[in-house]
Parts: sequence; structure tokens; C-alpha cells
Amino acid sequence: MRIEFVASDAGRFPSGGAVAVMVFENGQMSAAAQAMDAATSGGLSRALSAAPRFAGKPGQTVELIAPAGLDVQRLLAVGAGPAAGMGGEAAERFAAQAYGAVKLSGAKVLHVALAGAEEAARAALGALLAAYRFDKYLTTEKAEKKPSIEVVTVITDDVAAAEAAFAPLKALAEAIYFSRDLVSEPPNVLFPAEYARRVKALESLGLEVEVLGEAEMARLGMGSLLGVGQGSIRDSQLVVIQWKNGGDSQPIAFVGKGVTFDTGGISLKPADGMEDMKWDMGGSAAVAGLMHALAGRKAKVNAIGILGLVENMPDGNAQRPGDVVTSMSGQTIEIINTDAEGRLVLADALWYCQDRFKPQFMVDLATLTGAIIISLGNDYAGLFSNDDTLSENLLAASKASGEALWRLPLPDAYNKQIESMVADLKNTGNGRAGGSITAALFLQKFVNGVPWAHLDIAGTAWKKPSTVPTIPDGAVGFGVRLLNQMVTDKYEV
Ligand code: BES
Ligand code: MN
Ligand code: ZN
Repeated sequence: MRIEFVASDAGRFPSGGAVAVMVFENGQMSAAAQAMDAATSGGLSRALSAAPRFAGKPGQTVELIAPAGLDVQRLLAVGAGPAAGMGGEAAERFAAQAYGAVKLSGAKVLHVALAGAEEAARAALGALLAAYRFDKYLTTEKAEKKPSIEVVTVITDDVAAAEAAFAPLKALAEAIYFSRDLVSEPPNVLFPAEYARRVKALESLGLEVEVLGEAEMARLGMGSLLGVGQGSIRDSQLVVIQWKNGGDSQPIAFVGKGVTFDTGGISLKPADGMEDMKWDMGGSAAVAGLMHALAGRKAKVNAIGILGLVENMPDGNAQRPGDVVTSMSGQTIEIINTDAEGRLVLADALWYCQDRFKPQFMVDLATLTGAIIISLGNDYAGLFSNDDTLSENLLAASKASGEALWRLPLPDAYNKQIESMVADLKNTGNGRAGGSITAALFLQKFVNGVPWAHLDIAGTAWKKPSTVPTIPDGAVGFGVRLLNQMVTDKYEV
């Protein structure tokens, strides 16, 4: 699907395909809806009054097929919520909703009209995000199940301004697509080396990408990360991505958990739902997506992205519960449960990041604990941080981007739970209570006092079913938009 911006000029109506217009909560029609109503000699009003349960609420639609007076296949009225304060967010939701409503109709074109440039650009973003599909392995899908929309035309007053406003949003959408693709790929295809290759290809955007193999990581002393991957025939990789466009400013850094498949290792997971553990690399995919977005829109910032890529498998060489490993920081770790592997990967990735780059701050993202799903469900990611300013910046970006966060505590008293008799630390707390917190406290041991935030995205990386029109079922790309927003608002020079 592609986007086209088209100039609105009075008296010219879209032809062919579907046209969607907004109707607000009090029944008030948008300007475009009024124009369609006039063109259909009141046909839209008649349809709305024949649909008394349509109240203009988001999610509601009324459809007119081949309306007399218009040269279109269908006219769709989409509930747009309250008219007051209608802005970018509503425009985005409207276009996404409209796309979802007509995507299988057979129409090849969807027209939406948004007068202002900012709303037009956001509508284009909404349609793009709604149109994401991971269909590369579907070979026998019936034609009528495939989306028919080839073009979304956004009719707007100032095409040049809309295109300018859309440029960074297009870069964001492409980055979210990249992130969603990584998360969706099956784990036999996307193992660490293949993942690293796909990220290396981002050098075409102007990013610098280094890939460290197991020998280099061993030289650096990354016994914690390497222990996780040692039961897999696939080599572990550490990918270092740099975007340098912020002059001599101190870099900001993002670190992601990239477990391309998490069987649990010797502490094997139950079979039911284990296939979901292909998306245990969602944190790293958010970091890769963010770097894609920053490069795509030429953000004025120096940013580092680090991906810790491993496969957690239970072969004859696999790490055992009871093993003691030495991390790059020098701290030793007793492995209690090989399924608490994400923190072991991040321990070395975080230490390496602060040691090499001396960043202003580090934000890590990880599908770290099942416990965060128990705490917060599937709409909020957990935020843990040693720094109030960084937390506030993340929470502000969360509000602005719609990717929800909820801050949880890092109580010192719980540190007792990760003390070990034989090593400096152990990799789990005591039992299930506060499992996301003890995981975060473990990570904190590896940030060396640098301002840091940890986002536990185990509940938000994957949505099935999704209730949001801009997120099709499956990979969300959670974190890309949030962090891109934070960088835009707070960290560009
Ligand atoms: N990748 C899982 C966490 C997870 C669970 C993500 C469900 C998405 C959905 C992580 O590696 C894990 O297994 N964590 C354990 C930790 C426990 C052994 C202390 C967990 O949450 O059960
Ligand atoms: Mn695990
Ligand atoms: Zn995991």
C-alpha cells in the first residue's frame, strides 16, 4: 500500500474506490462529511439516521454502497469521537479504522480528507501502521483474504506542508515495519547471525554497525551472555549500532534483549505456547527499529544501539542450574534458573555499553518477565529507573506517543533476594513474588551508576488479539515510537 497526498479543491470529488469521512460524537459532520452529504443529496444524513446506534464513537462505522451522486464504490462514515480538540491522534485512528473497514472490500483506493497538514500526515501514518502485514510465508492464501487497497489518498489543503509533516512519520512507519518484521520472523529463520546480517544492512541508511562474535565476546569477558547461548548451535552475537549526527554531544544509548528463541534452556518451559518465545527478541527489535527511525529522519543526535543476540537452547553443552559464570563487570552469578536468561544477556550488554561509550543514559528494553504481564497486563510496559529525570522524559514521551508505561519501584530491601551463597549474585529472586522487580534489580547491578531505565515489554511486544486499529494482530514494534518521541522532544541538539 502506498500513500498519496492530493490537493482538495472545491467541487472535485474523489472517484473510484472507497471514501471515508469523520462523524463526531454529537452527530456533527466533518467538512468532508458535509460535502459528501451534499453530493449525495442528504444520503449520508439519511444513512446515519437509519443507524440510530451509530453515535460517532471511535470504532463505529456506517457504510453506504454505491451512493447516488458520488462516483465511488462506497462511502464510509467513521466515528471520530469528540469534535472538540480533534487532532493528530484522532486523525491517525480515523484513517487506521477506515483502512481496516475497507481493506477486504475489493476497493483499490481509499480516500480520506483531512484539511490540516499535521492531521493529514498523521492520517497517512495511521493508514500505514494499520496496513502492516507479515504474509511472506503465506503461499495458499485465498485472494479474497488479501487486502485490496493499493493506495490511500489523503485529500488535504496544503499538499507540500502535508508531505513535509509526513517525512519523519514515514521514517517512523518504516522503522516500525522493520521492527515488526524482525519480531514476526520464525526462529529457524531469524537466529542471531541472520539477525545481525539484517541489521548490518541498515548501513545503507548511514548507520555504523559492528557485529561481535563469540570469540570477541569471550575476550571481553562476557561470560554471562555467552553462558546463555552455549546450549545452541547458533553463535551468539553482540550488535553495536551507531548514529552520529549530534556533533560532539555525549551519546544516548539503548540496549535490547534479543533472545531469538527462549526454550528456557535446561529449566525447560512447558510446551503450551512455547512458540511465542520467538518474540523474545522484541526488546532488541525496538532498539534496531529506533536506530532505523533516527537514521531515516536524520535525527540530530548521537545514539548508540546495542543488541544482545542469543538462542536459549538445552543441548549437551547447555548451561546448568548451579553453574557460576563471571560477567564482564567482574561480578559472578550463580545460575538458579536457566530460563531467567534475559537478565544474563543484558548484564554484559549494559556493562559493555557504559564502559565503551560513557553515555548520558542507557535505556534497555526486554521481554524480561512473565510477572510484568501479571502486574500490568498487555497495555502497559513496566518502567524501572534509577533516575527521575529520565523517567519523567520517558513518561512524557509515553503520553505523547500512546505507548503506555507504568513506573514500578526498585526497593533496596529486595536486593537480598538476589544474593547467592556461592557467587556475588544469583539470577532469580525468591519464588514468584515481585518477579519483575527482582529482575530489574539484577540489571541495576550492571549499570555502574549511570542514569538508566529498564522497560519490561513482555506484555506489550505482541498483541493477539489487538484492540487498536494501528496495531494489526501480532508484532507491535513497541518502543520504537516511544523512544523516537523522547529523542525528538528532549535529546536532539
Ligand atoms: N522470556 C521470558 C519472559 C516472558 C514470559 C516473556 C512470557 C513473554 C511472555 C523470560 O526469559 C523468562 O522466562 N522469565 C522467567 C523468569 C523466572 C524463571 C525467574 C519468567 O518470567 O517466568
Ligand atoms: Mn526465559
Ligand atoms: Zn526470555
